[in-house]
Amino acid sequence: ASTLGAQAAQSGRYFGAAVAAGRLGDGTYSGILDREFNSVTPENEMKWETTERSRGSFNFGPGDQIVSHASSHGQRVRGHTLVWHSQLPSWVGSIRDANTLRSVMNNHITTVANHYKGRIYAWDVVNEAFADNGSGQHRSSVFQDVLGNGFIEEAFRTARSADPGAKLCYNDYSIEDWNSAKTQGVYRMVRDFKSRGVPIDCVGFQSHFGAGGPPGNFQTTLSNFAALGVDVQLTELDIAQAPAGAYTNTVRACMNVSRCTGITVWGIRDSDSWRSGENPLLFDRNGNKKAAYGAALTAL
Ligand code: XIL
Repeated sequence: ASTLGAQAAQSGRYFGAAVAAGRLGDGTYSGILDREFNSVTPENEMKWETTERSRGSFNFGPGDQIVSHASSHGQRVRGHTLVWHSQLPSWVGSIRDANTLRSVMNNHITTVANHYKGRIYAWDVVNEAFADNGSGQHRSSVFQDVLGNGFIEEAFRTARSADPGAKLCYNDYSIEDWNSAKTQGVYRMVRDFKSRGVPIDCVGFQSHFGAGGPPGNFQTTLSNFAALGVDVQLTELDIAQAPAGAYTNTVRACMNVSRCTGITVWGIRDSDSWRSGENPLLFDRNGNKKAAYGAALTAL
């Protein structure tokens, strides 16, 4: 096939992009989006600071714009994200009472997941909950510090009740290298969840890489997680300077694992990227295909 989405679909996978609602009116942007991609992830529009900026007052306008664009163009939607320590309004971060925070967290998950019920392929239920310090433990956050270790499990159970049709993912960065304490910490959590029946269906590997691309054991990491009985997905792929070979290696790692169900790049053109100074994406500022585009398409 001649596009990323159509080629990925030939093996039952999707190829997606992070999308900003404010750019949908740019014809070059939406032209590439609708030609190449069959999945979208709202880059910021479903984050807590947007969806519930003040307690109990929900704003679904920007997220709805993306979901309605996706549904009219045959694109699936990855929901991003229900519980995250970042882009979190300060009123949540200042809660110190566990019962209050538990009810605020569960109400947020229930209200957002219920609003989008039936239109979300997979939710990043919890994002970036593990520490970078080599401990393999959860990072400090208001959720961890006030609710304790059980907050992740509680979030997944609440999300399952709210939208039983969506796949529920744990999503994080720097868990691509099998030989890292953070990867091992997430692996132990997923193994524990599966053994106790906590509802988790997938793990998202953000895949924000340096110019060297993925670690050599990335495919091993993906297949080890898949062996626990979850799907795996590359959820926020971008690679500094976008070397073609690094994109080839990344896409191959997913293609070689049957439960790797799809890949999302974190933006369309380099100018759209949160790392735009590093030109990490598949299309240049004018919307032209880069060498990395051809590499990714060939590897699918
Ligand atoms: C980034 C967005 O791309 C930026 O526009 C925003 O200013 C900050 O967040 N991990 C994630 C994403 O899970 O939500 C982040 O997205 C990038 C890192």
